[in-house]
Amino acid sequence: MFDRYGRNINYLRISVTDRCNLRCKYCMPADGVEKIPCEDILSYEEIDRIVGVMAGLGVTKIRLTGGEPLVRPDIVTLVKKIRAHPQIKEITMTTNGVYLEEMAQSLKEAGLDRVNISLDTMKPEGYHAMTRGGDLKKALAGIAAAKRAGLTPIKINVVLINGFNDDEIEDFVGMTRDEAVDVRFIELMPIGEVATWSKSHFITNEEVLKRVPGLLPVKAEDPSSPATYYQLPGGRGKVGLISPISCKFCSLCNRIRMTSEGYLKPCLHSNEEIPLRPLVDSPDLLEATLRRTVFNKPQEHHLEEGNIISREMFKIGG
Ligand code: 5AD
Ligand code: SF4
Repeated sequence: MFDRYGRNINYLRISVTDRCNLRCKYCMPADGVEKIPCEDILSYEEIDRIVGVMAGLGVTKIRLTGGEPLVRPDIVTLVKKIRAHPQIKEITMTTNGVYLEEMAQSLKEAGLDRVNISLDTMKPEGYHAMTRGGDLKKALAGIAAAKRAGLTPIKINVVLINGFNDDEIEDFVGMTRDEAVDVRFIELMPIGEVATWSKSHFITNEEVLKRVPGLLPVKAEDPSSPATYYQLPGGRGKVGLISPISCKFCSLCNRIRMTSEGYLKPCLHSNEEIPLRPLVDSPDLLEATLRRTVFNKPQEHHLEEGNIISREMFKIGG
């Protein structure tokens, strides 16, 4: 599916739930969120039908996100259903990793190819504080289990927050020296909770290159990846910088997103949402709507002008 700017949209990110077993300060409010009633969430059957139509239109890659996708019961079944579409070449997941210790092996067997794991600090107290109660040991055990199960190459996502984890940049980069993992630093985006945060917490990814001047640029394997990649000399893994604010990658964007209630978001940073659930039983209408929405995908975001996004990240899944 091509949009009006000639971008080939072949990557669908599906948020399967807005619930999460953690409460990261930049993502969720302290007193939790009003839960979407179960009946408002797309069933696996409905997701599967939408995926079928998307696959017919040229989508080849699916990422499952949340909230936390592993809190949705029987997520393995959804992976199996998606795997059954031959046009879908790659199925990935973004997870906080806490449940991976138990689930990595069955996810792999169901057809999941690899995982991105969110880990913003390697300090147990810092992790506990930022996630409002999370246990770092579980996340690390999850990463180890994902490696054992072959959900590789593993990517670790680190949201850079000044005054919280900027002092760990060298440690995270150091992980890529001996381990075949990619560590990707993500600039904090003014979405949901973060929209009210002090400007002092925002730092650009330039900081990573300042702190670790020995990083060498390397070519990305996937040209549509939003990350620019670097490597330590002789390092096994890569260091990615994802800089949505300081360095826009909209012109290379190949993705669309669907929320757990079945709203299609042509761009993470626009407030436009198209309800797909009413169309699940009308494949022709669904197809026409998808084509039209994708064609009209916005050209770019305007976050650098101080715009904020009203829908919270846990509903979109990053
Ligand atoms: N800015 C940048 N990244 C964010 N994430 C969640 N909220 C934000 C934000 N405001 C990240 C999570 C996870 C991915 C799904 O999105 O840490 O890695
Ligand atoms: Fe959960 Fe991820 Fe949000 Fe943290 S950032 S509360 S792990 S969805």
